[in-house]
Amino acid sequence: MDARLLATLLLACCTLLSSSPVRADDAAAAPLTLIPMPAHVQRQQNMFVLNDGDGLHVQTDDPRAYDIAAYFAGLVARTRGLRLHVPAAPMSKAAPGTLKLSKLDLPKARSVSHASPPDTSPIRFELSKSYGTELGTEGYRLQVSEDGISISAATPTGLFYGSVTLWQLLTPTAGRGPVAVIPDVSIEDQPRYGWRGLLLDSARHFQSVADIEQLIDWMALHKLNVLQWHLTDDQGWRLQIKKYPKLTRIGACRKSIGPDAVLSGGPDKPYCGSYTQDQAREIVRYAAARYVTVVPEIEMPGHAQAAIAAYPEFGVTGQQPPVSTDWGVHAYLYNTDDATLGFLQEVLDEVMAVFPSTYIDVGGDEALKDQWKASAAIQAQMRGLKLADEDALQGWFITHMAGYLQAHGRKLIGWDGILTPGLPPQAAVMAWQSPDYTAQALQQGHDVVIAYSPTLYMDDYQSDVHDEPPGRPPVVSLKDVYGFEPALVPTGKPGAGQVLGEQINLWTEYMPTFARDEHALFPRMAAFAEAAWSPAAARDWDGFLARLPAELTRYQALGIGYADSAYAPRFTLSPEGDSKISVSLSNQVGGVIRYAIGDTAVTASSPPYSTPLTMTPPAELTATAFATDGSPLATRHAHIDAAALTTRDSDALDTCSNKLVLRIEAPRPLTGTRPVYRVDIMDTCWLWRAAAVDGMRHLSVGIGKLPWNYQLAHDVSGVVVRPMDGSYPALDVHLDSCGGQTLAHLPLQAAEIQTQLTAQLPAFSGSHDLCFIVTGDPKQGLWAIDKVLLSP
Ligand code: ACM
Repeated sequence: MDARLLATLLLACCTLLSSSPVRADDAAAAPLTLIPMPAHVQRQQNMFVLNDGDGLHVQTDDPRAYDIAAYFAGLVARTRGLRLHVPAAPMSKAAPGTLKLSKLDLPKARSVSHASPPDTSPIRFELSKSYGTELGTEGYRLQVSEDGISISAATPTGLFYGSVTLWQLLTPTAGRGPVAVIPDVSIEDQPRYGWRGLLLDSARHFQSVADIEQLIDWMALHKLNVLQWHLTDDQGWRLQIKKYPKLTRIGACRKSIGPDAVLSGGPDKPYCGSYTQDQAREIVRYAAARYVTVVPEIEMPGHAQAAIAAYPEFGVTGQQPPVSTDWGVHAYLYNTDDATLGFLQEVLDEVMAVFPSTYIDVGGDEALKDQWKASAAIQAQMRGLKLADEDALQGWFITHMAGYLQAHGRKLIGWDGILTPGLPPQAAVMAWQSPDYTAQALQQGHDVVIAYSPTLYMDDYQSDVHDEPPGRPPVVSLKDVYGFEPALVPTGKPGAGQVLGEQINLWTEYMPTFARDEHALFPRMAAFAEAAWSPAAARDWDGFLARLPAELTRYQALGIGYADSAYAPRFTLSPEGDSKISVSLSNQVGGVIRYAIGDTAVTASSPPYSTPLTMTPPAELTATAFATDGSPLATRHAHIDAAALTTRDSDALDTCSNKLVLRIEAPRPLTGTRPVYRVDIMDTCWLWRAAAVDGMRHLSVGIGKLPWNYQLAHDVSGVVVRPMDGSYPALDVHLDSCGGQTLAHLPLQAAEIQTQLTAQLPAFSGSHDLCFIVTGDPKQGLWAIDKVLLSP
């Protein structure tokens, strides 16, 4: 039967069976919501109709293709409610244990039938090496016509990515119910870069094996293919090393500081976590089945304090430090003697036995050289080796490890701090500091992965809306990530290195839970996936925005706790006349925002916002951003009253300087929402510019005390310590400038964590800048403003 006729006939059935039936005409008109956008897409007029219970034919006897078919069917069953018949792999070819397909095909995918599909199977998965020249090692061709759907690839990897694209065609725009109508389309696709990476920091905060596997599934559905697993750092050694059991017995536990106490069960309980080698192998296997390579990162010669806490004999000073509870750059380096090199080689032996990746990452970043400078033995060693300085010693050290890995058939990769003149060209460089490092590394013949701070650093927060979780500035918005281009300058030099690809990094100092990881990564991972996979010419921000709501619907079906920050409505208030308040609404990405005043909910028929609203306080205002199809994307609520005009939270205050601004959360309450403070930890000083102080006679400041847990290395001398009058810090409030008239002096002597300070103000007119300064030494306890309120 003609598919168009069938689709028309099915309309009646679907209308009865499904709460959101799909119309064939709608399907033909709907945009293709593919992310990342394939390299070539051609769309035809007709549609194909896929029915519940249809079969999938696998045309190869490679067992991996059958596993991919089962994975695909499980995904479609779980997220689209369609059951597809997939064939079992021919018994003789099945490779037991190669691919156990995760939660994705449990339990809902039990509905996937393994009975042999009839010959009329409308979906065909085909694997043939003959496609290799056209499609490469990761490419695929996906054809949807009135006759059926076919995915062809030269490799299982390509077939897997083709199946992900088909899954996206089926979700969610093809509607729900027992029938999916998808437009005829011809796709030929392969990635821009071979390395599409994500760094997961499991040292600062630890994720469960189940969470990491979940993340690997989600990476694969974004066509990312490298998980750089950051397993060791000053704050924790997370991988079991059998020859050196104290690495995890001692190195995997630290004192619980700040919010860690919530996770450990109390401030007196240590924060601990590590992975056995069996668990790590399981993660490697799980990832490989999804075409993701796990590259382990074992940091050296710096970021080594947890290891030296376990084995001080491999440090420089012989002293045993604690596993660090601080964030930042630490002093502890490994020794460079034979015993320590031997120890690290034995560690790498076990690491290589667990991780089959070509590359092994040895870190190499932020190694302060003070301990090497102060050691007579190391200075003598340097003279013996005729090394000019400690940077050359680092080069010697890393080159030694590169040789060791190479002798074992592996390659070294490390942060751009490893870039020294003697580094063997086989070593690859992960450029994070700037494009200059990329250029230099390529010139020197090294391959490079681009992972620049800040745009590819996913621990930088994504909006300045006050409900954004803690993190590091600057704001790295969805659009910033989407627009990332490495701006390469051709070296024009024979023997120059290649750009292997791009990587986003999730450092977890401010990500104590997996929910925070999800919030930080999604949907920015979708934006990154398109930057790293799609051809540069296919990049189209408006097109991405049009496709994103469908991706978010997929996230909901997958259970991903994504951020709605890009859509989150912001309320900007200003006085209007004597008694009204003007409210303007905005968000990062634009689009339709609808609103409702009072207790009513916002719906798709609520008025759309266009010009500032004039409101009579007190009033409640709710705003929701909508997709063009009328689905809600983000909702925020504001209580509009006179006090809202004269209140500033710390995100709405300026810091007096920008030395090291962070958004940090309070250690309490143990459960529920904790306040987030924006503070320059090197200068506890804030400015409220042009505060309307006219008639305001009372000041109230919410302030919290945070633990100081930062290592600032040589920058520590830049921390501003203001004299105290007595033995306690105070909050001083000044008029017009930080050196201006003191309006209030509020001692913090009796103050507990999270306290409210109040003061009377003299009478003023007009508006004035107000400066808020905490005196004393922030290293003795970091006082940070939460909110300031002026009232009559
Ligand atoms: C880094 O951010 N230290 C690589």
